[in-house]
Amino acid sequence: MCGITGCVSTQDCVPLMIESLGRLAYRGYDSAGVAVCDAGGIKLRREHGKLENLMALLARQPLSGRTGIGHTRWATHGRPSESNAHPQTYKKIAIVHNGIIENFMPLRAELEAGGHVFSSETDTEIVAHLISDAYETCADFSKAVRIALARVRGSYAIVAICADCPDELVAARLQSPLLVGLGNNMNFATSDISAVLPYTRRFIFLEDGDFVRMTHDAVSLFDAQGKIITREAKTIEWDIRAAEKQGYPHYMLKEIFEQPAKITDTFRGRILSESAEVNLDAPVNALELENVSRIQIVACGTSYHAGLLGKYMIEKMARLPVDVDVASEYRYRDPILKPDDGFIAISQSGETADTYACVKMARAAGAKILAICNVMDSSIARASDAAFYTRADPEIGVASTKAFTTQVASLALLAIHLGRKRNFLDAERARTCLEALRRVPSEMEVMLEQSDDVRKTAQKLLRANSFLYLGRNVHYPIALEGALKLKEITYIHAEAYPSGEMKHGPIALIDDRLPVIVIAPKNSTYEKTLSNLQEVRARGGRIISIVSEGDEDLSKLSEAYFTIPNCDEFVQPLYSVIYLQLLAYHIADLLGHDVDHPRNLAKSVTVE
Ligand code: M6R
Repeated sequence: MCGITGCVSTQDCVPLMIESLGRLAYRGYDSAGVAVCDAGGIKLRREHGKLENLMALLARQPLSGRTGIGHTRWATHGRPSESNAHPQTYKKIAIVHNGIIENFMPLRAELEAGGHVFSSETDTEIVAHLISDAYETCADFSKAVRIALARVRGSYAIVAICADCPDELVAARLQSPLLVGLGNNMNFATSDISAVLPYTRRFIFLEDGDFVRMTHDAVSLFDAQGKIITREAKTIEWDIRAAEKQGYPHYMLKEIFEQPAKITDTFRGRILSESAEVNLDAPVNALELENVSRIQIVACGTSYHAGLLGKYMIEKMARLPVDVDVASEYRYRDPILKPDDGFIAISQSGETADTYACVKMARAAGAKILAICNVMDSSIARASDAAFYTRADPEIGVASTKAFTTQVASLALLAIHLGRKRNFLDAERARTCLEALRRVPSEMEVMLEQSDDVRKTAQKLLRANSFLYLGRNVHYPIALEGALKLKEITYIHAEAYPSGEMKHGPIALIDDRLPVIVIAPKNSTYEKTLSNLQEVRARGGRIISIVSEGDEDLSKLSEAYFTIPNCDEFVQPLYSVIYLQLLAYHIADLLGHDVDHPRNLAKSVTVE
């Protein structure tokens, strides 16, 4: 979704802001803009489309200033266009905004009745008008922002500049992420750590209702009443190179290849081989989830698929009932959650609006809340009782890959931990499981060498206009994940079904044009899946399969097949998903799509 950057410095901040906007582009956007304060007042440059368009405009009409704000917009209110791009300005005020102002229609009507003329269709512009009106009355910029925001309902991360205060940024947050970056003779307000990571590693994570006023050498925080508050600054350890492509054509491909290393990082210090125990981080241990009566998992998209695998693993290893819900459904269906329940929110970004809302519901219900997140100190992580970090480093590709496998690896550790604590998993079985997990990174490296073979298969599938993904048991969530990857970056329709459901409808789809991607390594349901595939074959279906090494029966039925190591069923998903990620990637790339910036999608869905 939209990205925010704001900078107040002793030097020209425009080049730095453009670089930052480049780092925000991965979030998904349709227009971009910057505004600065200089001696002549507010100066604005905006363009529809790619950041390159804005850069070309800046080359024709240069801009400079020590204080500025920038934005990449993903349209919600108002079509993508130059006039709807941010910053939005009114008189002496310019603002950038992430989120949605829910009462913008009555506010706009009221302002129009008072003589205000609007230049955009956005909800954001009304905030610039409100701040301007308040500023004309109180002549205090930060107070004007507070007065204006007291009138709006919805969610926002806002950064504002004022022509009369050329060395000052004012920012505020409510249910939309915003951070303050503390630099050397420069300070930042940003929606995203990686946007300004080259300039600082020290960040203050704003809380809902916080306001901040900053100059190049001072930052003050206050609440809605204007009372000074304090927030601790944190140092971010992320390696800045993790947010670079490092020679790969796309972030997604780089991130697929990073998975062995990131899973190793996820395991580091958490597997105790001697005792066959899992050492979760102290706050997670302290939650004592082993004592809850059931666990509710909530997540969206790829993280939801990881949650489905979490159910298989936790129920099997710890015999603890687990329900899994898509967050946007859960939050509106009056769910039953009790104080003796455990609640797990899974989110790469830690900022997904629906998942965040569910965490607040779990808090109200008194459940024990664990966040499984990648981004440290993200909103969901902070709103939970404890956070388990997946250590995947920044994930830039919109299509989630390394976040997924590190989430699954984390859930596997949690399942073993709960199994041990609840005495359903003996030390020998736990040791076998942990050893199987330990082998994943090196075995995965070998599988990744087959990327070129996957590309050759992808080449043969480019004309298909629909795909069916089949899997059973732990491979059903993987089928769902494979279909999601394909849809989001190739724009080809794909559907996933549990293999056992074939005869209940989807078998009618089978013909010689429909590629059927089957995930069927040797496990407890292998024989049954094999029968389902005979039925597909008998109807002329094209089978591309993921099989265990040495499986001749299934490979003979398949137009193409890829092998995973012979291993315990519960680690198989960590292997099988790799081929599905690669298949989607290569099809998208061969079709000429912008793999890292799929149309209409945003990396982090921070509005409903
Ligand atoms: O940051 P989150 O894990 O909460 O994001 C959830 C989904 O938006 C995300 O997984 C999305 O489905 C991915 N683009 C899928 O590749």
